Amino acid sequence: MLDWSEPSAAARHAPPSFLNPEAGADQTGLGAIDRHGGRVSVDEKRMINCRADVNQLLPLKYKWAWEKYLAGCNNHWMPTEVSMQPDIALWKSRDGLTEDERRAIRRNLGFFAASESLVANNIVLAIYRHLTNPECRQYLLRQSFEEAVHTHTFQYIVESLGLDEGELFNMYREVPSVTDKAAWALKHTQHLDDPDFRTGTPEADQAFLRDLVAFYVIFEGMWFYTGFAQILSLGRRNKMVGIAEQYQYILRDESIHLNFGIDVINQIRIENPDLWTDAFQEQIRAMIRTAAELEAAYGRDTMPRGFLGLNAALCETYMHFIANRRCAQLGLSRVFDETENPFPWMSEAMDLKKEKNFFETRVIEYQNGGALNWE
Ligand SMILES: [Fe+2]
Ligand SMILES: [Fe+2]
Repeated sequence: MLDWSEPSAAARHAPPSFLNPEAGADQTGLGAIDRHGGRVSVDEKRMINCRADVNQLLPLKYKWAWEKYLAGCNNHWMPTEVSMQPDIALWKSRDGLTEDERRAIRRNLGFFAASESLVANNIVLAIYRHLTNPECRQYLLRQSFEEAVHTHTFQYIVESLGLDEGELFNMYREVPSVTDKAAWALKHTQHLDDPDFRTGTPEADQAFLRDLVAFYVIFEGMWFYTGFAQILSLGRRNKMVGIAEQYQYILRDESIHLNFGIDVINQIRIENPDLWTDAFQEQIRAMIRTAAELEAAYGRDTMPRGFLGLNAALCETYMHFIANRRCAQLGLSRVFDETENPFPWMSEAMDLKKEKNFFETRVIEYQNGGALNWE
């Protein structure tokens, strides 16, 4: 039963629990208010282990994080704005798609459906707590919403095509080549999920960096890209054009997520050079190599025979190309022999200006501000 009586004087004057000094560290932004502290200057701002107030967005220190927040807002889209009629007609037709194409599409959707949720959980439950910078947190809040939009996309596709929702959303548990990837990435966030985990020691800070690499560089920056290549390849051949259009919007969002993650990792490196030891760099390179191998196994499972210019061997080569590119972005030496990009049209799809012409979608119409430079 609710008690509507007035609280006692002592209770009225007690600080609310989120202001209780014992309720949590200041790094959360929910600790005790420092009534006598000075105003935060940009020099005090830090990516991790910051002792300055994390509730003061201004003055901005990391303009790249703020710019990505603005770019994300300018890219707003909803999956329901894309017509699914051509996809529904093709999916229901008797001979519009081969069995191999159907298998690849189902696996692809199943992989993404759960992955969007894993990525969102990692941001909200692991990364956000330990990234002690308000402009980066502002972007994380935007990214979290975008991941919700992406999960919504898969709900909309399942509903539109009448797919088996249980099959799709359980694929990350039931199909070994999908489970292996999800389980590998989850290993790296589980450390951070421990309620006693705190950054501030070299071991803990490196564990945090490994989580950032696993989710931003590998999950979103490598595995998603072969997924995009599969669907966009079908789209280029006029198949499943609704899903292909949605994937273009997701790709546009994900390319910002990836670049945010790379910027975060590189900024932490700059501020904490002692963490980036030779041994640690080797660990990161090994993670990227293993991730590419897991992706190659997934490619063989998804496309046992290949279709329409796409097959497991080409996807493996593409993964090697992407893995080397991610290494370069992190200042690491490459992990595979140098290789040509077997899908040059993917670069075109990632070029936002050309993207509009490529698929004749409404990319530019979605821009509602001046923050993105399309020239
Ligand atoms: Fe996403
Ligand atoms: Fe993402």
